Amino acid sequence: MKINIEKARVEKVRAEAVVVSVYEKDKLPGGEAGELDKALGGKIRDLIKKGDFKGKLSQTAVLYTWGQIPAKRILLIGLGKREEMGLERLRQVAGKAGSQIRELGLKSFVTTLPETGKKFGLSQVSQAVVEGIILALYRFRQFKTKDEDKTEITQFTIIHRDPKKILEIKKGVKLGQIVAEAVNWTRDLVNLPGNELTPQRLGREAQMLARQFPLKCKVLGLPEIKRLKMNCLLQVAKGSRQPPRFIILDYPGKGRRLKTVVLVGKGITFDSGGISIKPSARMEEMKYDMAGGAAVLGAVRVAAQLGLPFRIIGLVPATENLPGGAAYKPGDILTSCSGKTIEIITTDAEGRLILADALTYARRYRPEAIIDLATLTGACIIALGYEASGMLGNNQRLLARLKQAGEEAGERVWELPLWKEYDELLKSEVADVKNVGNRSAGVITGGAFLGRFINKTPWAHLDIAGTAWNDKGKKYMSPGATGVGVRLLTRFFQNWDKK
Ligand code: BES
Ligand code: ZN
Ligand code: ZN
Repeated sequence: MKINIEKARVEKVRAEAVVVSVYEKDKLPGGEAGELDKALGGKIRDLIKKGDFKGKLSQTAVLYTWGQIPAKRILLIGLGKREEMGLERLRQVAGKAGSQIRELGLKSFVTTLPETGKKFGLSQVSQAVVEGIILALYRFRQFKTKDEDKTEITQFTIIHRDPKKILEIKKGVKLGQIVAEAVNWTRDLVNLPGNELTPQRLGREAQMLARQFPLKCKVLGLPEIKRLKMNCLLQVAKGSRQPPRFIILDYPGKGRRLKTVVLVGKGITFDSGGISIKPSARMEEMKYDMAGGAAVLGAVRVAAQLGLPFRIIGLVPATENLPGGAAYKPGDILTSCSGKTIEIITTDAEGRLILADALTYARRYRPEAIIDLATLTGACIIALGYEASGMLGNNQRLLARLKQAGEEAGERVWELPLWKEYDELLKSEVADVKNVGNRSAGVITGGAFLGRFINKTPWAHLDIAGTAWNDKGKKYMSPGATGVGVRLLTRFFQNWDKK
């Protein structure tokens, strides 16, 4: 996407369409809509007065200008109630405007920035607007041979009448574009079906990142995984013809004496459940069981592009979970990379197994913090639905940072407790731990299991089962992968850097 930033007046700018926004209940359109209204002799005001346009959230109207101003069309977009304005709202309305322009069949447009009073800086506003537009225009169409709908917006222009503001806007636009494009890259990986995105392919994608950005990448295959005694990863992989991979992305960071953070992402490229096979209804969705891994790769990519002052290691254990002849079985006892033994109750709780080995591997970096992201439990969807990722961990400061970052990035997280009483549920008669508890507290026992493989390092676990995918499409997200985690982690690093 090409994004131009120009000093221009909305009533003077030449465009196929220009986007201006109006708050609900404003009798007189404010900001840029107000300027435009004056130039048009009160046409927008009239529309509001007659009740044809109310400024309700994401309401749109197209006006033709018939040569009265250089722009051919005006797209009015409703901002909703003034007191409810926030960054997430901005993404939502900007996204709506972008999709509406595409529906009009236009290839480019000009937009003004909504007026937000003193609440947000122009850089924040422009970042949110750019994110909303780029995320909303994303579609996964690699496998459509006949393209029904060819219109693709290739560029847009953000205008502001004050030349002194241009630099600030540019800063936000750059950030928004880097982040949103990394999210869309992540969405592509997650949307790819299991036959296309195998563990090997995921490894190659990581290596390709390392060629484009200042990153190092190592992809371990079977011999190295065996040498490292990552038996959990090996055992989960045994039911599949596809060899596993262990991906290590290393972003050294810009600056000296940097903090190290390890990000760990679940990379199950397809989860059939294994011998404890899943019901077939909606099993096809289990191609998104590598969303945590993809988000980790996406977040490291952003860090490298922005030159963030952290050393960030991304670890992604990747394999399929299938019921082949050599597959691991309920009742099996595995000796994990850490030496702890695990009794397998169900082969469908495979994510925590491969993560256990990765969390053990993470120790060698002596990191300041470890954050793992995983589509770990269906129970997380029962507990929180699709509105927040589940969060558990051993360090309140780290969790508070993530919570704050989530609010700002529009990717909310919600904490569940990790009291030691829950550990009881994972007691095994024959091994150190079993891989699932009973039916109760599924998200928590998943987190508690992972916690067994963390020593004292501050650690957070994010269960993204409900947030990584959406069936119907919502706000500025088309149906399918959301790329959740990339924006959250980016914000997390940026905020940490500030304090
Ligand atoms: N990948 C699934 C979790 C999942 C389910 C993610 C639905 C997204 C949507 C995971 O490997 C799994 O099967 N978990 C089990 C855990 C249970 C056996 C404790 C589950 O949720 O049923
Ligand atoms: Zn599973
Ligand atoms: Zn899984």
